Amino acid sequence: MWIKEVTQKVGEEVELLGWVANRRDHGKLVFIDLRDRSAICQVVFSPASGERVYQEAQRLRGEWVIKVKGIVKERPAGMINEKIPTGKVEIEAQDLEIINQAQTLPFDVGGDGYEIGEEIRMRYRYLDLRRPRLQKNLLQRNKIIKFFRDFLEKKDFIEVETPIITKSTPEGARDYLVPSRLYPGKFYALPQSPQQYKQLLMVAGVERYFQIARCFRDEDTRGDRQPEFTQLDLEMSFVEEEDVLSLIEELYLEMIKALYPQKKVNLDENGRIPRMSYQEAMEKYNSDKPDLRKDKNDPDELAFLFIVDFPMFEWSETEKRWDAVHHPFTAPKLPNGSLEKEKILEFLRNDPGKLLARQYDFVLNGYEIGGGSIRTHDPEILEAVFETMGNKPEEIKEKFGHMLEAFSYGVPPHGGIAPGIDRLVMILENEPNIREVIAFPKTGDGRDLMMNSPSEVREEQLKELGIEISKKEK
Ligand code: AMO
Repeated sequence: MWIKEVTQKVGEEVELLGWVANRRDHGKLVFIDLRDRSAICQVVFSPASGERVYQEAQRLRGEWVIKVKGIVKERPAGMINEKIPTGKVEIEAQDLEIINQAQTLPFDVGGDGYEIGEEIRMRYRYLDLRRPRLQKNLLQRNKIIKFFRDFLEKKDFIEVETPIITKSTPEGARDYLVPSRLYPGKFYALPQSPQQYKQLLMVAGVERYFQIARCFRDEDTRGDRQPEFTQLDLEMSFVEEEDVLSLIEELYLEMIKALYPQKKVNLDENGRIPRMSYQEAMEKYNSDKPDLRKDKNDPDELAFLFIVDFPMFEWSETEKRWDAVHHPFTAPKLPNGSLEKEKILEFLRNDPGKLLARQYDFVLNGYEIGGGSIRTHDPEILEAVFETMGNKPEEIKEKFGHMLEAFSYGVPPHGGIAPGIDRLVMILENEPNIREVIAFPKTGDGRDLMMNSPSEVREEQLKELGIEISKKEK
């Protein structure tokens, strides 16, 4: 049984399993705080527990794993501990089994751990995760994801898994490459997002797809950025911007109401999540993810915002070419919002910088927590977008031929969005960075200190892959 249930069992015999959070000796009595995932409670050993049990209890040390049998007793009025949910009771021990001993931990796991160096926390992440703060983060993350799944299933979405070993897709970051053994010299890429697969699922007639999707991007890590992270990825057929935004609005507001009722959500006068054009955001706040909280010190204030009407392209000075602000599959629209095909093609050829995109970003408290768009489903416009971005016809065929071909077999108009889950949980749990809400994150410089990765591989492995390391760092 869970330790938290002891409060319902006064007078009964219980059997509890868990870790020794600490031990205190008071004269003839030995007090243990026993911890499992659900709670901590006090266990009392005395000579009345029996000679063997009493002796064993005196050997107990922090983080030993034990089984205790005993009677749940109400504590005398003066001895109640208001700080813990089980503080009105204690267990009078009758039996004790030491299941496993533990050496002294490298750090304390009882507190919130912010003061402990991150290197050591990450090296011993499996211990760090024992602390109640991180247990709560894992639990809340699980609840949020479950809410998303249940809600979307009710709206007729189906969750589909897409490949992890795949081909490079243009989300703007560097790819993680996976060498192929069967085709030496060729590489798979880990997906920066399931973007192309989800669009191909629309061609496949799935109509409403979602996935709790792992994405991989080889970019510099920051507080709100990890090399691998999780998206609530979704895509819908036969939709316009309004359909996607309304769905996300309903999903997020209901989730907050159900799981974070104490939070205050800033809505507009119609009770909706405010929307702002990219231009207005840049003019007023000089940011495309402004923080619209009234009081930035209030941990319970949530200021959601949708940014719309992004430019389709931005000029890349380093590459001397136009780049898609979101990604090339995003549908362009004319500066006046019109979708007239011939005019769009004309702008793509002559004045791409003036085109807007059917893109939307989802912002919360100054963080970009999602991005998406209505896609181009017309193969001719899509090809013209690739050309505007400087791709030669052979390159377009090589990189995106499969998409253009798929779109020639009856593609529904479609669009979607991919909110990041790590950033959302970070904000809701008032954590300073996303590492605190990911079970096994990488350090700021991209390492897993617990597994010691990245690491070298055996010479034979490289040989098998046809790979030679040109320079080994000492
Ligand atoms: P985008 O690249 O904007 O869109 O990513 C969507 C959201 O994912 C989160 N995110 C990250 N979170 C943690 N670490 C990272 N390195 C990281 N990078 C992105 C952000 C971001 O808003 N395929 C498109 C979506 C679409 O068009 O439907 C995409 O991936 O919260």
